[in-house]
Amino acid sequence: EKGGWPSFMDKEIHEDPDAVANTLLGRFDERGDIVLDEVHIDVEDFRSIDKIIVVACGTASYAGMVAKYAIEHWVRIPVEVELAHEFRYRDPILTPRTLVVAISQSGETMDTLMALRHAREQGSRVLAICNTQGSTIPRESDAVLYTHAGPEIAVASTKAFVAQITAAYLLGLYLAQVKGTMFRDEIHQNLDNLKAMPGKIQWVLDTQTDAIEHAAERMLNAHSFLFLGRHVGYPVALEGALKLKEIAYTFTEGFAAGELKHGPIALVDEGEPVVVIVPSARGRDTLHNKVISGIEEVRARGAYTIAVAEEGDPDAERYADIVFWRPACPTLLSPLLDVVPLQLFAMDMANLKGYDVDKPRNLAKSVTVE
Ligand code: M6R
Repeated sequence: EKGGWPSFMDKEIHEDPDAVANTLLGRFDERGDIVLDEVHIDVEDFRSIDKIIVVACGTASYAGMVAKYAIEHWVRIPVEVELAHEFRYRDPILTPRTLVVAISQSGETMDTLMALRHAREQGSRVLAICNTQGSTIPRESDAVLYTHAGPEIAVASTKAFVAQITAAYLLGLYLAQVKGTMFRDEIHQNLDNLKAMPGKIQWVLDTQTDAIEHAAERMLNAHSFLFLGRHVGYPVALEGALKLKEIAYTFTEGFAAGELKHGPIALVDEGEPVVVIVPSARGRDTLHNKVISGIEEVRARGAYTIAVAEEGDPDAERYADIVFWRPACPTLLSPLLDVVPLQLFAMDMANLKGYDVDKPRNLAKSVTVE
C-alpha cells in the first residue's frame, strides 16, 4: 500500500501536489466562480458573517494561521486562530454572526470536537475543514468543506496540511465573492494562481530533494534548530519546527522573525542551525529585506543558516549557507511551497537517525482524548 515508497510519509509528501489539485477539483462553475453547494450554508448567512474563529490543534492550527493572513486580506473581517484546547476554557465572544472554522485531518480530535460543541452551544455556526468523510467533527458541524488529500497514514501530517490551506483559500475567496469585497477579476486571478500551485510543488519535489538530503546529512548532529518566518512564513516556521521535533526528536523552536531581538537571538550559537523562510524576492520589499537582515544577524553570531527562498533570490544566495529553492508565487500562497522542503528535511533527518518516520514515539495519529 506504500506504492513502492519506503514510508507512508515519503509517499504522502509526494502526494502534496495531488492533495492541492483534488481539493480544488469540482469547486467552480462554468464561469469560473466558486461554488460550495456541498457546504449547505446559504449565501445570505455567509454574507452576514462578521468574524471567523479558527479552532484546531497542531499542524491544523498552523493551516488556520495561514488562513488568517489570506482571509483578513481578501474579506476584511477579523479572523482569530485559537488552539482548540485553549478556546474551550476561556470565555470566547461568539455570536450568530461568528463563523467558527474547525480544521482537522482526522475529524476525531477530541479537543477540536469539544471546542466546536462549545461554539454551537453559544449560537455560532461551525464549518469543518476535514479530510475524513463521515468522521465526528464534520458530523457535528453545521457545514463541511472536505479536503481531498486522500487517507493520511503517517503520524506526521503533510499532504493534509497543504490541502487544509487550499480549502481555507477557497473559503476566503468564496467569502470575498459573496460579500463583494474583491472584484471578480481579482478573485479569478487568485484562483488561477492557486490552480498553478500543484505544478510548482511538483517542481520542488523534482529538483530539491538531493539538496535537502545533503543538508540533513550535514546537520545530523545539530543539538537544536531555530525556525524563523515572518507574515505567512511564520506559521510555516512553526510547522517546520513541529515536523522536525515530532519525527526526528530534535529540539526545535519556531519564531516570528521579528521576535529575534526580543529574546530568541540569545539562543544563537556557533554552528547551530537556523532555518529561515524568506518571503518573495520580487521588488525586494520591506518584508523580504527584514527577513534577510534576520539571516545576517544570526549569521554574524555564528549560526549555520538554511533558507527556503524564491528561485533566483540573490540575497538568499548571498547570505544563507544553504538554500532550498521554490518557484515564484504570490506571497499569500507561498506556504504551499515553503513547507514542502521542510517536510522532506524532517523526514530525511529522521531516516538518517534510523527512526520510524511513520510512527514516531509517544504519538498517535489522532488524539481522541482530552
Ligand atoms: O486530525 P487533526 O488534524 O485534528 O490533528 C491535529 C493534530 O493532532 C495534528 O496535526 C498533529 O499535530 C500532527 N501529528 C502533526 O504532524
